[in-house]
Amino acid sequence: MGLIFEAKNLTKKFGGLTAVNDLSFEIRRGEFLGLIGPNGAGKTTVFNLISGFEKTSSGSIWFDGIDITGLKPFRIVNLGIARTFQLVRSFRYLTLLDNISVSCLSPRGKKVSEDVGTEEFASTILSSIGLVDKARIPPVVLPHGDLRKLEIGKAVGSSPQLLLLDEPFSGLSYEEQLGITDLIKKLHEDGVTIFITGHVLRELMALVPRVIAMHQGKLIADGPPQEVANNKIVLEAYLGRGEDIA
Ligand SMILES: Nc1ncnc2c1ncn2[C@@H]1O[C@H](COP(=O)(O)OP(=O)(O)O)[C@@H](O)[C@H]1O
Ligand SMILES: [Mg+2]
Repeated sequence: MGLIFEAKNLTKKFGGLTAVNDLSFEIRRGEFLGLIGPNGAGKTTVFNLISGFEKTSSGSIWFDGIDITGLKPFRIVNLGIARTFQLVRSFRYLTLLDNISVSCLSPRGKKVSEDVGTEEFASTILSSIGLVDKARIPPVVLPHGDLRKLEIGKAVGSSPQLLLLDEPFSGLSYEEQLGITDLIKKLHEDGVTIFITGHVLRELMALVPRVIAMHQGKLIADGPPQEVANNKIVLEAYLGRGEDIA
């Protein structure tokens, strides 16, 4: 299996704060990779750099053999990387169907939706995230768990090869977490490479075969979740923040 993604010496400074510090890692095509770290470790910033929402201070980002460092977000989506947001975002007053249709109308989404029709493609995605019954209502009235599913559905509409999921389980009930877990597993089985962050390792333990861990912008561990969970440096990073890893 070849590489689909490479971060090389990635660094992001906000004034005097180095949020991402000389970070290098690789993702293999078809992999299901987790990223953990205590609050403020730099996880979301890594996603912001990959998706072009923030400019890198130094280092480079490679996708499918292409240097995507500094590209605009829409170009990155068009190449095949989609992301979700830790704080969910949607068009509040559009229906769920229209929310999904927007991303189905992206150049990559269109390649799929041209054959079946945008609405049909968006409906299929709504079914896959279990929200087809709510196609005609706006997201403003949905419970948080449904909004998280919608967040993933919107990303899927652009037909990504690499999907970045930023804390997709945060704020969810146990049942809602199970729903999202099934959804993510299905996407992975369909061939999407998944890079997923979690605040606590427990959420990712049963899901991913490999985890990388960050602390203060630096990579501190890389390996199977069981191994990373028992890594002394990782445990100290969490303890130092007064947080539990599990
Ligand atoms: N736009 C920004 N401006 C200034 N500091 C930021 C900005 N975004 C993130 N940070 C800081 O960078 C560090 C990493 O944040 P973040 O990537 O959100 O961590 P995580 O997602 O792991 O909780 C934190 O100290 C945070 O306060
Ligand atoms: Mg975050």
